[in-house]
Amino acid sequence: MKRRARERPRKPRTSAPAAAPRVIILAAGLGSRMRSARPKVLHRVAGRTLLEAVLASAEGLRPERVVVVIGAGRESVVASLEGRSVTFAVQDPPLGTGDAARRGLESLGEGAGPVVVLAGDTPLLRAETLRALVERQREDGLDLAFLSFVPPDPGAFGRVVRDARGRVRSIVELAVASPRERKIAEVNAGVYCFAPDALARALAGLRKNPVSREFYLTDAVQILARGKGNGRVAAVTVEDWREAWGVNTRRDLAAAEELEHRRGIERALDAGVTVLDPNSVRIGPNVVLSHDVVLHPFVSLEGATVLEEGCEVLAFTRVLDSRLAAGAVVGPHTDVEGAQIGPRARVGPFSRIRPGSEIGEDVRVGNFVETKNTVLRRGVKALHLSYLGDADVGAETNIGAGVITCNYDGEKKHRTEIGEKAFIGSDSQLVAPVKVGDGAYVGSGTTVTEDVPAGALALSRSAQTNKEGWVARRKAKKSG
Ligand code: UD1
Ligand code: CA
Repeated sequence: MKRRARERPRKPRTSAPAAAPRVIILAAGLGSRMRSARPKVLHRVAGRTLLEAVLASAEGLRPERVVVVIGAGRESVVASLEGRSVTFAVQDPPLGTGDAARRGLESLGEGAGPVVVLAGDTPLLRAETLRALVERQREDGLDLAFLSFVPPDPGAFGRVVRDARGRVRSIVELAVASPRERKIAEVNAGVYCFAPDALARALAGLRKNPVSREFYLTDAVQILARGKGNGRVAAVTVEDWREAWGVNTRRDLAAAEELEHRRGIERALDAGVTVLDPNSVRIGPNVVLSHDVVLHPFVSLEGATVLEEGCEVLAFTRVLDSRLAAGAVVGPHTDVEGAQIGPRARVGPFSRIRPGSEIGEDVRVGNFVETKNTVLRRGVKALHLSYLGDADVGAETNIGAGVITCNYDGEKKHRTEIGEKAFIGSDSQLVAPVKVGDGAYVGSGTTVTEDVPAGALALSRSAQTNKEGWVARRKAKKSG
């Protein structure tokens, strides 16, 4: 029986909808432990900058506003987020995470929603985890809920100190931790959700750390836990510690890449994908995979790529920002970027499919064929050594070996239009703008500069002449 959802009476709302969170991302630190000329948050994990990855998880909260606190190398950080709806606040000099949060709050202004503060260097955080943190703060009416985790080695992360009853009392940074505190396994992820007014209250109470001369945001825990409404601070422990991994050094960056790599593989396997060599296959965090996809060794799936059911990507193939329809087979040694590959299409080996290519159903594209901004309609064959740029090729047309569309006149790009069931002979050039009609033939080695009507044969090469006995005559001349 069909569900009739519309006729069902709506459940009355019991409370007003929760106000959207407001987000501050801390990204002003020097990142000197990276030993790099590049700001730390612009280093990449699985193809995305650390900051982009953090922003993506923040966007999962549907925030009212996102403020990014910048400092070191701020021009390049701003440039990296061009077109994104974020506001920037400048912290210069960097006086610690507490001071950075203060700069962020100044730019955030007044608002009814909770304030989520994120470190710009925790790229593996999932949006779901962040949402659960915000839920917890709201449902329990906490001043502060923050994420903690238990990594295999607590390293230099801030230790979460609890009292005998298990209530969170403070976060202690490694430099000032007692030997006993150093042994604490539960550490701070640097991800906080404050009640709307609580961050300002906590910041007012921050004091400079006497050793580092910085303001630590982590001191907010102690301030709020000991203040009015004692104990309204909780740590939410992340189930999978890998999510909370923070990047301070190149070693951390390499570890993050490895963790993200494994996460991509696990996600694929859970979705019903066969991965022939999990060590060498890379699957980016935004890739969408369907069941019965097969991935061969050294395949890299990047950006907003979608693979529909049953498609197969053969070895040494990269697919970026593209969609492969059901049953398509791509590779080996093939590069696909910004393209659509139709159902059951066969692309490769050694093909290069560039942005704006639409490869139709049952199309075959072969070795050393490059397409760009080109539509190949159903059943087209282009199997050898071609450049097809700014072209539209009709269904079931055959493109011979070595066919070139000459789309560029040195100033502008022009289009080549070829009809259905046409035959373009090998080693022909099509000088755009030019049209070839349905069913037309272009003889091998023709340079097409004029439109070819439907059903016509176009030839432009000169007639062949044979000089009988020429070789023998030349030999005689040379020796004589
Ligand atoms: C911080 C926490 C630590 C936690 C860890 C989690 C503090 C004092 N410590 O340590 O408890 O376990 O994160 O990864 O907060 N930043 C600024 N301005 C500054 C300093 C830092 O914007 O003046 C930014 C950085 O760019 C970075 C983030 O804040 O994105 C965290 O700073 P970082 O120096 O990496 O802190 P940790 O030492 O990792
Ligand atoms: Ca860090």
